[in-house]
Amino acid sequence: MTTSEVRQHDGQEPLGAGKVLLHFMMSLDGFIADADQDAISWSEGATFRPGIAEEYGKSIGAILGGRKGWDAYPVPSAPYGGAMARPVFILTHHPDDAQPADGVTFLDCDVAEAARIALEAAGGQNVAVFSGSIGSQLLERELIDEIHLHIVPILLGDGVRLFDNPGGTPIRLELLSGDEPKAVIDVRYRPVASQQGAAF
Ligand SMILES: NC(=O)c1ccc[n+]([C@@H]2O[C@H](COP(=O)([O-])OP(=O)(O)OC[C@H]3O[C@@H](n4cnc5c(N)ncnc54)[C@H](OP(=O)(O)O)[C@@H]3O)[C@@H](O)[C@H]2O)c1
Repeated sequence: MTTSEVRQHDGQEPLGAGKVLLHFMMSLDGFIADADQDAISWSEGATFRPGIAEEYGKSIGAILGGRKGWDAYPVPSAPYGGAMARPVFILTHHPDDAQPADGVTFLDCDVAEAARIALEAAGGQNVAVFSGSIGSQLLERELIDEIHLHIVPILLGDGVRLFDNPGGTPIRLELLSGDEPKAVIDVRYRPVASQQGAAF
């Protein structure tokens, strides 16, 4: 299946339909990792809808990530609670010095080609893109089908942005949850006093 075939899907299909997804836990201020490339510790203790990891685990057929994220956390079985083994593709300009790991392929190719390879490996399931920089490149090329975010109640203030594109053109989105694609989402939070704020 090619990425252009994938883009013909209407966005309302079930999770497992051969789409290229940006899928992240994100801080309220739009960071997917902190300044140390840590994507995990700041979300520890946050609660998730029951069954959500299994839902995504069943629908994701391959993962496409970048070298920084891999070097920071080189554990191919970690995503989605290790529920399913799936091929992982890591894009890097220097695959030669990467530490080999089972199920992990290091690619040095065009980002669209990397997405195509991951889609083929996913065998009709979705590809999860686990990289802000690759996600941004694919968004620019109109090769992202959907963005799925789990917003953690925290303001990080620094780190890896979901979409970092200074001076670039804004990318308009449609809301897929609910009936109103242009709806503004209302949220209410309050700051937690600092002595309680180390964990949720
Ligand atoms: N919050 C979440 O749910 C979640 C989930 C997964 C990951 N993450 C986090 O996301 C972060 C990773 O995103 P990131 O954007 O900072 O970094 P990244 O994409 O992991 O790493 C950037 C590196 O990927 C390689 N790369 C990117 N585009 C390339 C291209 N077109 N061709 C060849 N190589 C390319 C380059 O590596 P070389 O320098 O080797 O060429 C580049 O320096 C990590 O901190 C990870 O922890 C968060």
